[in-house]
Amino acid sequence: MDDSQAVLLKRDGFVATVTLNRPDKLNALTMEMLDTLSAMASELDADREVRCVILTGAGDRAFCVGADINAFMALEPLDMWRSWIRRGHQVFDQWARLRQPVIAAIEGLALGGGLELAATADIRIARPAAQFGLPEVSIAAIPGWSGTQRLAGLIGASRVKYLALTAKRLTAEQAVQIGLVHELAIEGALAWSVGLAHQICKLAPISVQLAKQLVDAGGGAGLAAALEGMAGAIAASTQDAREGLASFREKRPADYLGK
Ligand code: COA
Repeated sequence: MDDSQAVLLKRDGFVATVTLNRPDKLNALTMEMLDTLSAMASELDADREVRCVILTGAGDRAFCVGADINAFMALEPLDMWRSWIRRGHQVFDQWARLRQPVIAAIEGLALGGGLELAATADIRIARPAAQFGLPEVSIAAIPGWSGTQRLAGLIGASRVKYLALTAKRLTAEQAVQIGLVHELAIEGALAWSVGLAHQICKLAPISVQLAKQLVDAGGGAGLAAALEGMAGAIAASTQDAREGLASFREKRPADYLGK
């Protein structure tokens, strides 16, 4: 398959759907796919018409089975540090910080980097056949795209250790029990997620986005950026902000009213 088609972006009204589209390789992630995911995150974040994003994988076998093993095994060891792990962190952080809510629609396997990517979403919907795991230690690798960190924030260090040290998998039902998955969708995770996304889009978008930022900031992620963004908006909404601009343009001292 042409690399440019390995991640797809589709819009339907206020909902954008990003699909990992490498089903023959169970949507394993290449560096090119990470770059596309990064570009798409930037585009979506800046798009005022997008109120909810769905992240899914093509086919019903896998959401994503993690990093492309052939791609990263071919790297020089130091390039794991210099580029591969680093790039994954950059892109996953971008997704975790997306302004809009993100729903991960998980039809099948979410393993390794696939589970780490699903953990960047705000809401996870899974088909009952979906499975979750961190199998890296079975191929002498490690969960390196935030599994030991962001995922631990979601389900706790103890459960991450169980997954990461045993390479065992959780069923979708077990994932619901520990709060990793929010809803099971018997008819399919994507269809269910589309319905949920349209419901979210009817809610006040700014409030939804602020609520997301607040929860993340409460957990320490992007705290300074969230505070500065909100403070910036309050300052920009004052009468004094207009006076400040006017005085700057008219090259005169400002007369501030404190409102
Ligand atoms: N990277 C690259 N290719 C992968 C892959 C990965 N992480 N996982 C699966 N694939 C490829 C397989 O090589 C195979 O390609 P081929 O048809 O050209 O041989 C294809 O996807 C289908 O996988 P296959 O192993 O035949 O399917 P399966 O149903 O027998 O097994 C898994 C599925 C997920 C159990 C098995 O593929 C697996 O263990 N994958 C590795 C998962 C992993 O360790 N992820 C963490 C990476 S750090």
